[in-house]
Amino acid sequence: MNREQADTPLRVVQITDSHLFRDPTAALLKLNTQISFDLVLELVQRKEENIDLILATGDIAQDASMEAYVRFGAAMEQLGAPFYWIPGNHDRRAVMEKVAAHKDAFINLVKSGNWQIVMLDSSIVGEVHGNLAPEELQHLESCLQAAQNDPAIAHTLVCLHHNPVPGSALWMDGIGLHNDEEFLAIVDRFKTVRAVVYGHIHQELDFLRKGVRYLCTPSTCIQFKPDVEDFALDDLNPAYRWFDLHRDGSIISGVERVTGHVFDVDHSSTGY
Ligand SMILES: [Fe+2]
Repeated sequence: MNREQADTPLRVVQITDSHLFRDPTAALLKLNTQISFDLVLELVQRKEENIDLILATGDIAQDASMEAYVRFGAAMEQLGAPFYWIPGNHDRRAVMEKVAAHKDAFINLVKSGNWQIVMLDSSIVGEVHGNLAPEELQHLESCLQAAQNDPAIAHTLVCLHHNPVPGSALWMDGIGLHNDEEFLAIVDRFKTVRAVVYGHIHQELDFLRKGVRYLCTPSTCIQFKPDVEDFALDDLNPAYRWFDLHRDGSIISGVERVTGHVFDVDHSSTGY
């Protein structure tokens, strides 16, 4: 029985905001990002039997170093599924593109079963906030238009680094996607969009907006506290997200956090 007959969903894993450094002993607000990343990957290996694909949604490196991207790519290979990455505000696309072993990771449209996954680059070099350049918006629109005329594609998942809707803390206002209205106008116009998936604000969110699911995924390192005015870290542990994408368009998703470890973070910090 093949996948279509069995209605076996696509199993997707999202890994985001790993903030790796050139130096694997370096820390972000006291937390060693390599150790927390390794613990999340151990958890993925323990929990996930058959991953179809991995989405790496930015802030892969804290210092945009080649060494960090190479280590990240090698770790993804251990998971035995293709991975696709997009840059975050801490990344440099030009450096990521030089990681020769992972040229395919920059594919910006992935098709699997009757789903398409559109990968968008919302990063701006030197800025914390995001913006989708005209060619990125055009890419999204043309993928959605093509799906309307393609009987093989019924559902779309859209990925970007920056939050296109506000996060759940006041200090986050201004660091999200600045041309959110342009992006949302396209998403709202096409009926195949089932979910918008992102990272950047290091917290777990899962809600509906105009019939589309919006999911934010915790970082593999530090966590940002929800419902606060000023920057604050949360005590929740590092995590990844899994999705089951079904042929009928339904999505089952959850977050798995590292357990059995207490991570010491700098709660006195006023930013990152
Ligand atoms: Fe981040």
